[in-house]
Amino acid sequence: KKVVLAYSGGLDTSIILKWLKTEYDCEIVTFTADIGQGEELEPARAKAEMLGVAPENIYIEDLREEFVRDFVFPMFRANALYEGLYLLGTSIARPLISKRLVEIAAQTGADAVAHGATGKGNDQVRFELSAYALNPEIKVIAPWREWDLTSRTRLLEFAEANQIPIAKDKRGEAPFSVDANLLHTSSEGKVLEDPAVDAPDYVYQRTVNPEDAPDQPEIIEITFEKGDATAINGQAMSAASILTELNALGGKHGIGRLDFVENRFVGMKSRGIYETPGGTLLLEAHRGIEQITLDSGAGHLKDSIMPRYAELIYNGFWFSPEREMLQALIDKSQEHVSGTVRLKLYKGHVRTIGRWSDHSLYSEAHVTFEEDAGAYDQKDAAGFIQLNALRLKLIAARNRRTKS
Ligand code: ARG
Ligand code: SIN
Repeated sequence: KKVVLAYSGGLDTSIILKWLKTEYDCEIVTFTADIGQGEELEPARAKAEMLGVAPENIYIEDLREEFVRDFVFPMFRANALYEGLYLLGTSIARPLISKRLVEIAAQTGADAVAHGATGKGNDQVRFELSAYALNPEIKVIAPWREWDLTSRTRLLEFAEANQIPIAKDKRGEAPFSVDANLLHTSSEGKVLEDPAVDAPDYVYQRTVNPEDAPDQPEIIEITFEKGDATAINGQAMSAASILTELNALGGKHGIGRLDFVENRFVGMKSRGIYETPGGTLLLEAHRGIEQITLDSGAGHLKDSIMPRYAELIYNGFWFSPEREMLQALIDKSQEHVSGTVRLKLYKGHVRTIGRWSDHSLYSEAHVTFEEDAGAYDQKDAAGFIQLNALRLKLIAARNRRTKS
């Protein structure tokens, strides 16, 4: 028996590694990906080897470009927000991890994959729906749903009994649970569990406090081609480089912090602290370029399906026919979403202050308050209003008649 484990190199997944070995008596393959979490990967290799994983069973991959190009950017074409606020940073990374787990399982002849998400959250659902969608035969092991290591004390005891090194700062209670990638950092639990209480400043990792941000605003330009960002300040860059650069710019100005109570798919509410500096700039800029390049019918239609699309991603249905159908609609809408947006970054806020495009539908000739040289006949509007008012007049007349 062979299991592919999504392995971060941290304490919890190291405990899972040992537990799988003893409990399932199986060969372990570890998979560790760089998706921009900002941690070195080589220590994870050393640790896996130390825990007895054969060198040929250790998979370490840089997935940053694929993550941004094939997952983050397609999602941003939709301006996706869950419950109006959450940019889905964790949700969008899980399908990619699952895809690689399933592929590595096929490559190594493993019949199962394992992950370190708890039985209370969204992540277990996302990992597993993705895995089953890609391989209906795959088995999934979720140790958190099975084992009796139900407290931090028991986990540490297990680690000690199995010679798993415990970093000094992990001996006490971990202060909160973090998930990070190129799109965001997410922190939940422990000191954050009371939604009435403000989060301590040390929770934030990639944004300065807006109160401490530079007193000088900064102006940047983002260029889009068919809905995807392709350049910053005229400099063409790869997808992952663009998000990396936008994270640095947004983080410096304290942009993209969110304190949010959300509805988990499993039914409970949870409170999280999110930092999405680059994503927040990207959303603002994308909306900015759509303002001049999208037709109103097209724009209103894609906006109306956005909450549904966001919920599908949140709930783990990335690899589903309905997500792919909505994606086709969204992608079609982006054919002319090309051009450049100028943004102003200042103390936790970003504003669009200019946008231009060869594909623009904006017509100054039509909208001008000055002489329009016959582009538009104002007399046409009178009939337009009369016909639109017809129903309203009939209703008003009926109401007058039936009023007692
Ligand atoms: N609540 C977020 C989501 O469901 C993040 C979950 C993972 N975050 C964490 N700190 N463990 O997408
Ligand atoms: C977890 O439960 O593992 C993290 C939180 C979530 O998945 O919602």
